[in-house]
Amino acid sequence: MIPHVYIEDLAPFDGQKVTLRGWLYHKRSSGKVRFVVVRDGTGIMQCVASLADVGEKIFESIDALTQESSLTVTGTVRAEPRAPGGYEMRLESLSVIQIAEEYPITPKEHGTAFLMDHRHLWIRSRRQHAILRVRHAVVKAIRDFFDERKFTLFDPPIFTPAACEGTSTLFATDYFGEKAYLTQSGQLYGEAGCMAFGKIYTFGPTFRAEQSKTRRHLTEFWMVEPEVAFLDLEGAMELAEDVIVFVIARVLESRMEELKTLERDVSLLERIKKPFPRITYTEAIDLLKKSGHDVEWGADFGGDEETTISSRFDQPVMVHRFPAAIKAFYMKRDPDDDRLALGFDMLAPEGRGEIIGGSQREDDLNNLVARIREHDLPPEAFEWFLDLRRYGSVPHAGFGLGLERTVGWIAGAQHVRETIPFPRMMSRLRP
Ligand code: 4AD
Ligand code: MG
Repeated sequence: MIPHVYIEDLAPFDGQKVTLRGWLYHKRSSGKVRFVVVRDGTGIMQCVASLADVGEKIFESIDALTQESSLTVTGTVRAEPRAPGGYEMRLESLSVIQIAEEYPITPKEHGTAFLMDHRHLWIRSRRQHAILRVRHAVVKAIRDFFDERKFTLFDPPIFTPAACEGTSTLFATDYFGEKAYLTQSGQLYGEAGCMAFGKIYTFGPTFRAEQSKTRRHLTEFWMVEPEVAFLDLEGAMELAEDVIVFVIARVLESRMEELKTLERDVSLLERIKKPFPRITYTEAIDLLKKSGHDVEWGADFGGDEETTISSRFDQPVMVHRFPAAIKAFYMKRDPDDDRLALGFDMLAPEGRGEIIGGSQREDDLNNLVARIREHDLPPEAFEWFLDLRRYGSVPHAGFGLGLERTVGWIAGAQHVRETIPFPRMMSRLRP
């Protein structure tokens, strides 16, 4: 029996006869030799067919192959350092499964709108494929990080009755005659989870009706949100730093091939190490003013401000203690200055902007009730949440790490639309 092998698993089969199943990536011919480049989802490999080896019939079927035709190939594989993927096959037989119709994505340049309309095919391209493999490695690393630290995975609901991150970006839907919203964040449920399990993390899709068309905004994005009882702001910042260092190390270990395909400057990732710089919001405002930004204390940062701050550091930088007025209702006030919230944002280097937002939570019942009122939120919807402050309230903290922005930074993808298989944005619901 000739084994069926995936290209990424070829190493133990050096010098042996194997069968690969996949799609035609591209082909070339030169006289009595045909080069058939096959991709199988795990890699690409060049097969070399000589007329003498394979005969007329197979030569004809190679000549009939179109881009993305599906096929199987059999032959002896050999390590070939110069070949993409490191192996080459001497073709012995080939069978066609389907001759593909004229493939819309050709090696020529296509516009982004065209590629986005063909996202279901675009994901076969090397660059998109590499980014999505990095995404998988990032997800796995995040899970391993929290699992190894004995956090309990805690899945929050997606249909929710209330806002977590402000009422302006809610997606509403009809829930049997009642209004429900797609979750903006699993945090409030995560807070219940940490009082039950000590330390938890949520990991799932979250939704925001973002009106902004930027490189950093999706309407559906994935977030991991750890929440820990008896943790303070400083502890949350340390946890955020640890998870980033862990994830980067893992990606460098397991996805070097993809980073090479992406032409990522890995030296910028290799130098990421603890401790990350920490600056206060007030210091960040000074920095912005000195850099010529027209900002006043009290204003929130936009993308440009974040870019300026983050490009000042070659490590991710954590900005903490924002004005409470521009932050969410659940953040605890700084006991040393009531104008400030004990929250932080982590801004990725290379001008990437915010990848993590977190805080220590308000743990006092009366303060929290007052905040809900100040933010004009419907108190009934938060009754259950207030129970967490009635029954054994403790200091606690957590954060949300945006998966797509993190993958975009690590993979060097300029736009978050390339970091998720089927991006959802203001002007993009299809395919
Ligand atoms: O800063 P945010 O809004 O924080 C929260 O949702 C908190 N409840 C998290 C927590 O403390 N448990 O969002 C967290 C992160 C951001 O730093 C960003 O990386 C990402 O989520 N994010 C988005 N990513 C893509 N598209 C969007 N529209 C995003 N909005 C936020
Ligand atoms: Mg934020």
